[in-house]
Amino acid sequence: MIDLTTKISTLTLKNPLILASGILDEDAQTMQRIFFNGAAAVVTKSIGTKPRTGYPNPTLLDLDHCLINAMGLPNPGIDNYLEEIAQLTTQNIPTIASIYADSPEEFTTLAIKMQTAGVQAIELNLSCPHGQQYGLPLGCDPTLIQDIITSVKHKTTIPIFPKLSPNVTDIISIATAAADAKADGIVAINTIKAMKIDLDLCKPILGNKIGGLSGQALKPIGIRCVYEIAQHLNLPIIGVGGITNGEDALEYLMAGATAVQIGSGIYTRGIDIFTKIEKEITTWMKNHHYTNLNEIIGAALP
Ligand SMILES: Cc1cc2nc3c(=O)[nH]c(=O)nc-3n(C[C@H](O)[C@H](O)[C@H](O)COP(=O)(O)O)c2cc1C
Repeated sequence: MIDLTTKISTLTLKNPLILASGILDEDAQTMQRIFFNGAAAVVTKSIGTKPRTGYPNPTLLDLDHCLINAMGLPNPGIDNYLEEIAQLTTQNIPTIASIYADSPEEFTTLAIKMQTAGVQAIELNLSCPHGQQYGLPLGCDPTLIQDIITSVKHKTTIPIFPKLSPNVTDIISIATAAADAKADGIVAINTIKAMKIDLDLCKPILGNKIGGLSGQALKPIGIRCVYEIAQHLNLPIIGVGGITNGEDALEYLMAGATAVQIGSGIYTRGIDIFTKIEKEITTWMKNHHYTNLNEIIGAALP
């Protein structure tokens, strides 16, 4: 019997596979489908205080081994989204609410509303490469990150997971700032800044010109970030970036992740990617004589 249960702070999950923010999570129905197709938990689309239309098209490019997106955080705003959350929580679907904002106060307001709506944890999107604060993405400023986490934790009781950007010089110092502010876990990583040029038009293709790269090409960077954070800090890490099969997920777990998220992989392997990956992990563990996920987590760390 293979035991795939895993624990992230106070959350116990039936397996380590979670839906990543931004992919098929605009409404409760699609998140329910993902859950009933094997995901242990879902992360919502990043939600802000007000409705936002996002960037003009094109917003998503499908390239070799990766996607580049510049959606621009389209979302209905918190007050129009709480009905979706209610539909998930009444069905006992473990739900992690992703929120984005410009200030500690706004993050806190959003977190309180999400907690009241019944979510199990909050993911702080500090890392969106298009969201800017004083000319820099929020996630580049350790002091601001600490202020946000401290403020949110002061007014909430559920676990708080900041999601970090790989678009920084030193991810360890950013993760350390989050840990010092008593984050309950870290999500690593969001997309990496990228661009594609149209040769005929002599200009960038995306409406926003610059976007974020996800999918298979991102995986080695995500693995490196998880490994570096796990080596320095003792708190749960949720690995994300480029997972399309069981071996990808196992790599993240061995690098020190206690769970993983899957986003772009859904475009290549379909909505039942979670069930497929669960089977692939189980088969690999059986073949390699492991019985418990805890034997794998951090196995590649020195
Ligand atoms: C179309 C698209 C939309 C996304 N929207 C969000 C978002 O709203 N909030 C967020 O934190 N991350 C967002 N992401 C980033 C993913 O959650 C994830 O961190 C990233 O894509 C790497 O994982 P993957 O390679 O499995 O997709 C988005 C990614 C894609 C492809």
